[in-house]
Amino acid sequence: LFAGSADFYAAAQTLDRLPPMEDVEIAFAGRSNVGKSSLINALTGRNTLARTSHTPGRTQQLNFFKVGPRLSLVDMPGYGYAAVEKAKVEAWTRLIHDYLKGRANLARVFVLIDARHGLKSLDTDVLDGLDKAAVSYQIVLTKADALKKSEVASRLAGIEAALARRPAAFPQVILTSSRDDSGVPELRAAIARLLSE
Ligand code: GTP
Ligand code: MG
Repeated sequence: LFAGSADFYAAAQTLDRLPPMEDVEIAFAGRSNVGKSSLINALTGRNTLARTSHTPGRTQQLNFFKVGPRLSLVDMPGYGYAAVEKAKVEAWTRLIHDYLKGRANLARVFVLIDARHGLKSLDTDVLDGLDKAAVSYQIVLTKADALKKSEVASRLAGIEAALARRPAAFPQVILTSSRDDSGVPELRAAIARLLSE
């Protein structure tokens, strides 16, 4: 699936510009700067496919990347703090919300959480919304390279415990780093399994 070349396919700043619902879509959501775009690049092996930045608020629209004949990965703007105007953030927050709730071909949302920080209140708000809308999601921890080895097990256990009572959550948490590619093969395998369901 990820052996072929991935490519930019479509971008949308408003709901009416979304591409047709032909592909299976998998979306990457999470706080600004958590590493969504970097993880898409790691998955596809193309370091400049999705644009990344040190500054929160880099991704400002929904970007669709085609991987294989029937799968698109969707890079989303981040929620929370962004170094851009408030009106822009409000517009894309509405777009994220509407897309996540209303997309029939959306197979799963990977909700990215910084492994160093764990679940914050903004994250739990998003999970509440996904549970309410019955949209299947899975937690992916990012920047594992920046977490102390001794902290990994307790971080994973804490998040898995928090997911236990959430109806739309997939129970397995995947620990990743786009810097050293750890967990990236596991994430590719999870995506491949979703496609074969
Ligand atoms: P927005 O589009 O602004 O919401 O951000 P994003 O979630 O797409 O994050 P992006 O991929 O642009 O990365 C943000 C910053 O985190 C960049 O400085 C990356 O180099 C850094 N980063 C991303 N992944 C990793 C990782 O696995 N480890 C470390 N240490 N840094 C990372
Ligand atoms: Mg981004």
